[in-house]
Amino acid sequence: MAEPLFRTPKGTHDVLPQDHQYMTYIKKAVRHRARQAGYKRIDTPMFENRGVFERGIGAHTDIVEKELFLVKGAKSGDADDAEFALRPEFTAGICRSYVEQGMQQLPQPVELYAIGQCFRHDRPQKGRFRQFHQFDLEVIGLKDPSLDAQLIYVVTKILSDLRIKDRLTLQLNNIGSAENRQAFADALKDFFIGKERQLPEEDARRLKTNPMRVLDSKNEDTQIVLKNAPKLEQFLSEESRQYHATLLEYLEALGVESVPNPGLVRGLDYYNQTVFEFWDASTGAQNAVGGGGRYDGLVELLGGKSTPGVGFAGGMERMIWHMKEAGVSIPNKDQVDVFVAQLGPEAKKQCLTLVAELREKGVHTLGALGEASLKSQMRLADKFEAKYALLLGKMEVKEGTIILRDMRAGKQKQIKFDQAIPQVTKLLGEQNLDTYVLRDQIGDVDED
Ligand code: HAM
Repeated sequence: MAEPLFRTPKGTHDVLPQDHQYMTYIKKAVRHRARQAGYKRIDTPMFENRGVFERGIGAHTDIVEKELFLVKGAKSGDADDAEFALRPEFTAGICRSYVEQGMQQLPQPVELYAIGQCFRHDRPQKGRFRQFHQFDLEVIGLKDPSLDAQLIYVVTKILSDLRIKDRLTLQLNNIGSAENRQAFADALKDFFIGKERQLPEEDARRLKTNPMRVLDSKNEDTQIVLKNAPKLEQFLSEESRQYHATLLEYLEALGVESVPNPGLVRGLDYYNQTVFEFWDASTGAQNAVGGGGRYDGLVELLGGKSTPGVGFAGGMERMIWHMKEAGVSIPNKDQVDVFVAQLGPEAKKQCLTLVAELREKGVHTLGALGEASLKSQMRLADKFEAKYALLLGKMEVKEGTIILRDMRAGKQKQIKFDQAIPQVTKLLGEQNLDTYVLRDQIGDVDED
């Protein structure tokens, strides 16, 4: 094969039909569970004013500092002048929308879900892409541990629908209120006074801009110094501890198991209180399939009234990877039921309407409407793995008949032309016909 002229950009990939089966399956599970729990679907733009992310996620987080895809028009100046950025996640955009659309007027909490592409200009590696898909659930407007518990429960339901829940562990932590975190950050700064020189340049800089991020440092020296540093746990208020205890009680009542993880802080600045991630039970922190938490300050940061919120996002590529590893098979709905083959101008005309009518009845139909010989058309029917073939040659046209061939059994019979549709639909079985009535499926129209 010739070398292609263009390839997908680094860190991106085509979602080919065989992967779409998994994508669609996940989307269906998400839509189903979200609807059951009263969530409504929202779509926000794929790009936003970069300030939405800089303010919301935090200017000194990796996602904003290193991974934002900046967007500018062909006519504008250099990248630093770019007004917009591709969304690295949904939460900040959804909260921008909550404020802009006056959703505080709606009955609270407002429960929203979104499914779509996100973009992070990270170094691509296994399970980490520059364009990937998330599904996202947000509960905005009320604060109560029961909401955190219910959200986590819905997520576990989705994961068990996808048959990957047993491969994952729920890592759970409480990182306290904004004040608790501030007190901890101050204590960390104090602790490092006089020790700055033991830190690599990047960690010394983090200590100034976002001290909690020093905890995530991959540097061994930093980690050794950190062993004696104050711990976030020591700064949690009684209220935060109580909040977490109640959440654990509710999770237990719902039968959700979790692993306490005091080291879990998450890479986005907007969190407070509850944070959680779903980890691969065998490999741990690397490539979490999803994560979330409470963000009571975010809406206000984006210009709204003080409004609490809690949410979760799952990485769909990572979930698909787990589904494949677990051998989860997806029902294939792209099968070809009938292949219509014809020869001669009159046959071709009749087949054109026959194909249209079969499709209307819910039969997945392909029609070879080219000029190839019947033999090569039948070879094609075989390649498409059609269950049945209908053959209309010049003779059959004259006689008002058609040949119906069972491709698997390799048997065929001549039937009356007007019997073709009733016979085929009977053979396939009423329940297997792909009829789609929009009117009955109003909630299902958001297929994307
Ligand atoms: P996050 O932990 O940054 O949280 O991302 C959620 C999930 O998206 C990750 O656990 C992972 O599965 C997937 N993901 C993230 N980056 C990549 C990547 N480069 N390639 C492939 N998959 C990736 C959030 O985005 C928060 N907005 C979650 C949230 C919602 N918090 C509150 N509400």
